[in-house]
Amino acid sequence: MEVIVTPAPESAALAATHAVLSGLPAGRGGVLGLATGSSPLGLYAELAAAVAAGRVDFSDAKGFALDEYVGLPAEHPQSYRQVLIREVCAVIGLPLAGLNVPDGTGATQAELEAGAAAYDAAIGAAGGVDVQILGIGANGHVGFNEPGSSLSSRTRLKRLTARTRQDNARFFDHDGDVPTHCITQGLGTVLDARRLVLIATGAAKAAAIAAAVEGPLTASCPGSILQWHADAVVVLDEAAAAGL
Ligand code: GLP
Repeated sequence: MEVIVTPAPESAALAATHAVLSGLPAGRGGVLGLATGSSPLGLYAELAAAVAAGRVDFSDAKGFALDEYVGLPAEHPQSYRQVLIREVCAVIGLPLAGLNVPDGTGATQAELEAGAAAYDAAIGAAGGVDVQILGIGANGHVGFNEPGSSLSSRTRLKRLTARTRQDNARFFDHDGDVPTHCITQGLGTVLDARRLVLIATGAAKAAAIAAAVEGPLTASCPGSILQWHADAVVVLDEAAAAGL
């Protein structure tokens, strides 16, 4: 694992952008794994700058979201499909046709589970993910793989923890509007990507980063899977690196 500590969030975004671009096939195309959350926003802005400078072109690329809420209509502004359309597709020029998001709209458990299996198959059919962009939850979660998630899990239906629902309540009008379940890529699915680039900034992530980078490889800290990957890059600002 390569750990890069930079002075500030802006420099972390630049370093993470370099790690992403050097992991993509030269020229057009490539398969990007996309994370939502505030952590990668600076990285997406720097990717947009690289597009504007003609250093990369995502018009033939594919994107695969890490996760999606269950029970929100696909057009709901807080569905991760809509968040990624706003915060990634529109920013880096990734066509909507290239965006893949787990289907959280199934009416039954069987439908949701079938959609999750189809999602893993779609990643395989695209040739796998070249670079998976990751954030980390304050409790160490990756995607929506909460502590205790199997290290070899595949994309599947999960219940959200109270902590994660609280953390994400700011995006909804009422706490009770936060979905209770999600479909998330599994930790095994994430590990299949050819490169992992995790970006974390701010003191609130310091404990999770210390556990993920220097703690044991354990399901208790899903972020620790980066230790198991042959090409993982962790990019931090000084505040997020404070526990190392
Ligand atoms: C969310 C997402 C994760 C994200 C994490 C951290 O619940 N499902 O993919 O990495 O929380 O979010 P943030 O970057 O806003 O701190």
